[in-house]
This record gives sequence, C-alpha cells and structure tokens, in this order.
Amino acid sequence: MLISKKYAHDQQCVLYPGDCFKLIRSIPDESIDLTISSPPYCMGKEYETSTNYEDFISLHEKLIPELFRITKPGGSICWQVGFHVASSVVTPLDYLVYSTFGKCEGLYLRNRIIWTFGHGLHCQKRFSGRHETVLWFTKGKDFDFNLDEVRVPQKYPGKRSYKGSNKGRPSGNPKGKNPGDVWEIPAVNARHSEKTDHPCQFPHAIVQRLILSLTKPGNLVFDPFFGSGTTAAAAIVEDRRFVGSELNKSYYAIAKQRCEKAMSGTLVFRQHDKPIDEPNPATKVAQVPASFREVNKKL
Ligand SMILES: C[S@@+](CC[C@H](N)C(=O)[O-])C[C@H]1O[C@@H](n2cnc3c(N)ncnc32)[C@H](O)[C@@H]1O
Repeated sequence: MLISKKYAHDQQCVLYPGDCFKLIRSIPDESIDLTISSPPYCMGKEYETSTNYEDFISLHEKLIPELFRITKPGGSICWQVGFHVASSVVTPLDYLVYSTFGKCEGLYLRNRIIWTFGHGLHCQKRFSGRHETVLWFTKGKDFDFNLDEVRVPQKYPGKRSYKGSNKGRPSGNPKGKNPGDVWEIPAVNARHSEKTDHPCQFPHAIVQRLILSLTKPGNLVFDPFFGSGTTAAAAIVEDRRFVGSELNKSYYAIAKQRCEKAMSGTLVFRQHDKPIDEPNPATKVAQVPASFREVNKKL
C-alpha cells in the first residue's frame, strides 16, 4: 500500500502536507463515507496561533459547509471536541459546533458521545475536567450503523428474562451489549503506549469504534486535522481508505511513520473494547503514605 500526497479517488492513503481547505477543494462532492476529526481548540497550543474561541467559530463557519458537501448521502461526520478554558471560564466547544452544524439542512445529530478518562490536570478552583465529547451527525436519515462490530461484554451475561415468552432464558445478546454513549477510554498521556510527540493525540480506540460501526471495508475516511495520524492509522488497520491533511511538518512525519506501521501490522494501539485496568493494591503507588494518614484521619 502506498502513501500519496495528492487526492485521487482510487488511492488507499492520502496524507496531504498542508492546509485542509486546499485539500478539500480537490475532493469531489459526495465522496467521503466518514469524517472523524478533532480541530484546533484555539487555546494557544504550540500548533495554534489563536487563543480566542471566536476564531474557533469562524473556522467552523467556513469548514462545515464544505464537510457537508463532500460527505456521501448516508455518510457520517464525527467531531471530537472538549472545552475552551480561559481564566477558569469554560466554554463547551460541542455547543458552539452544534450551533454551526445545525445550519446544514439535512444533517442530523445521532449521538453526543461522552468520552471520559480517569486522569488529567488537577484543578484548584473548579472540578477537574475528566470528559470531552464526540458529536456524531449523519447526512440524511438513511444510514448504516453496524452495532454488532462494536458490542462489548455484558457486566452480567447470565442475567435471565423473568417474564414473557423468554422467561428463564438469557436476556442479553450473546455477541455483547451496545457500548452506550459514555465511553471510558484512557487519554493519551505520557505513559500511554500510543504516545507520540504530538501534544493532543486522541486515542486510537475512539476512532476504531467509530470506523467499525459507521463504515465498511474499502470505505473512505477523512480527517482534515490528522495531527499524529491517529485516524489515518486506525483506518488502515481496519482496511478502510484514508484522506487527510496536516499543516505541521513534524506532526506530518509522525503520522506517516504511524501509517507505515499500520500497513506493516506493527502499530501498537489499545483496542476499543479493552476494559479499564483495576488498580493493583499490591503495587507501591496504591499504598497510602504514612504522612497522608497524619493529615487525613479517614484513611
Ligand atoms: C487537535 S490536533 C489533532 C490531533 C489528532 N487527532 C491526533 O490524534 O494526533 C489539531 C491538528 O490540526 C492541525 N491544523 C491546524 N490548522 C490546520 C489546517 N488549516 N489544515 C491542516 N491542519 C491543521 C494542527 O497542526 C494539529 O496537529
């Protein structure tokens, strides 16, 4: 499989090194099956020039009509965003995104997925942020949802129906349950097996679950802001085609390397249905230090 830099419909993997608007101009109407992306939040990260959420809105005002144009009827757009925070004032970006997507007639919200993770910055003046969101829209009302591809194990698979014609029989689905719209998936922190030098990677598992449930092998997946290439690599692993863009040269190089690993079957990633590790009480980090007991009598 080859990595190309220019869009052509029959390519397996297009990594465009440049501005997403330039790439989008070369993509014909109704050619993308699924867009998954996390845009710049305009928080002054190393890859951002703005700290202002008005710029976030104007970027989306320009981008969303184009995303709608290139999406196939029945195709999906999944937009992963968190919060804009300035001086402890929090603006939920999915709220802003929803207002802008809402202007596209024929685009329907199917889920507002809460992505929750156990670790992150510890706030002193408000509750620490432990979730972000993914908004899933479809173009039109006729769309496929391949639930069986992403079922997860039931907590109590032995549960039985207590009434009706199935009384006494197992009540669950032997293939597992619907994962729901609250996804507990570890964020990519410094010790995560997927961590690269990109400061804001999203986890492979989020993208994998969306690709498996919303597309079929051979379908075309798009990410206008691919960063370290998480969406691209996940698409390759699941035998889908990919097209996307990234402005920053160092991130582009990371993404290319991850795609090559995905192609050779050597990409390391955490599967979407892997349960969260329980803390091992025998480890040193799980032990309460004596100095804590002196301060906190409840321990
Ligand atoms: C939130 S990060 C995406 C991270 C990605 N989801 C990952 O897992 O690595 C947003 C990315 O968009 C890139 N970017 C910002 N403006 C862009 C533009 N106009 N065209 C293409 N890429 C852009 C930034 O360099 C940054 O890497």
